Amino acid sequence: MNAKTNKAHELIAEENKHYAKSARINYFDLVVDHAHGATLVDVDGNEYIDLLASASAINVGHSPDKVVQAIQTQAAKLIHYTPAYFHHEPGQELAQRLAKLAPGNSEKMVAFGNSGADVNDAIIKFARAYTGRPYVVSYMNSYHGSTYGSQTLSGVSLNMTRKIGSMLPNVVHVPFPDTYRHYQNESEHEISLRYFAEFTRPFETDLPADETAVVLIEPIQGDGGIVKAPAEYIHLVYDFCQKNGILFAVDEVNQGLGRTGKMWSIDNFDIEPDLMSVGKSIAAGMPLSAVIGKKKVMAALDAPAHLFTTAGNPICCAAALATLDMIEDGLVEKSASDGEFTKQAFKKLQTKYSFIGDVRMYGLSGGIEIVTDKESKTPDALAATKIIYRAFEKGLVLVTLMGNILRFQPPLVITQSQLETSIQKLDEVFNELEQGKIELPAEMNNVGW
Ligand SMILES: Cc1ncc(COP(=O)(O)O)c(C=O)c1O
Repeated sequence: MNAKTNKAHELIAEENKHYAKSARINYFDLVVDHAHGATLVDVDGNEYIDLLASASAINVGHSPDKVVQAIQTQAAKLIHYTPAYFHHEPGQELAQRLAKLAPGNSEKMVAFGNSGADVNDAIIKFARAYTGRPYVVSYMNSYHGSTYGSQTLSGVSLNMTRKIGSMLPNVVHVPFPDTYRHYQNESEHEISLRYFAEFTRPFETDLPADETAVVLIEPIQGDGGIVKAPAEYIHLVYDFCQKNGILFAVDEVNQGLGRTGKMWSIDNFDIEPDLMSVGKSIAAGMPLSAVIGKKKVMAALDAPAHLFTTAGNPICCAAALATLDMIEDGLVEKSASDGEFTKQAFKKLQTKYSFIGDVRMYGLSGGIEIVTDKESKTPDALAATKIIYRAFEKGLVLVTLMGNILRFQPPLVITQSQLETSIQKLDEVFNELEQGKIELPAEMNNVGW
């Protein structure tokens, strides 16, 4: 799809003969050869600024020296021994560190997994076991992963339930607050109350609160479009959970580890969750995840209720320890200040272009809504696709969410000059769009979610 790439076309044509289409959301013909920091280089030698950070999985940037060194040293020492039977020091050290790093003062315990999806399954298991209750509440527009459990929890794509039901029983979805498309003159307070009324409705009709185990939420939805719930709403839900003996769990897979300018996205709300899921950036792209929960909750299951042969792999744990060193060495603060800089830059562009409907930036987690016009706020997926296509031609890798939202989640190590270049190039692309100069090739008609 990109005129600059030749080898990539051939490689992908060959790959398509063997690679299941269920496992990739199509965007561009980008075959990454190597990458460092926020710079990607493809197999044809083209350079790009990565504004996607491998789906927020490399907050510390691509192949940082410290992490590479940790991986190499650990690989030469011990590649794996399963934690299902025995112990290794990187796993021990990481479990302790994560338990301490989780929000709040209660004692925590950790169980490792291999993906963000399996730790959301873990939340269902631990919550049901601890409470002895069957029902689980999650959100429309949420994405929690691709196992049966986490896919049932998700609410962002019909392809995640289509043709594969029955899904897990007793999972109820409630609407996530939308602070962009709301009633005229509705205040954030009124929006919070309206969505809290939507939240409690099932509990008044068909969902017994005393049979509900857990509410799982992304406090800032990722794949739903980088949407932050109002603090008042989150606190109303949290208080409701407390009052009814329901656990409050957060999915930090996408928005955790400095992404939103705080260590955890729930730190934006000053709440200590009972359970949380962590993945993606935890090991700089190596496959590792963790469910972290209050000790009493995590003690509710006995082995082998939740274990995996390759979970907590020592190389991944060593990578995670080095990753945490980097994140705790100023990257959270950098995310906050770079995020503010970027937000102001996009806000300025918003005054210039009629199709930029909303600018949401929480740290370096951004969602830019592309609409037909600011008054109707009608999503314009075609315009958003034109933008990412032209941006790719100009050397920026970014994708869309929900069809019409630009996803702006660069590695937190992105340099100031890369940020400025990205904004400048996007300005040029917006300008071309405004003048009707961007033509999409046929292959781009079917990209995205
Ligand atoms: C919020 C959230 N939870 C869970 C997941 C699933 O993670 P994984 O793909 O590692 O299973 C994702 C992935 O995008 C995510 O964004």
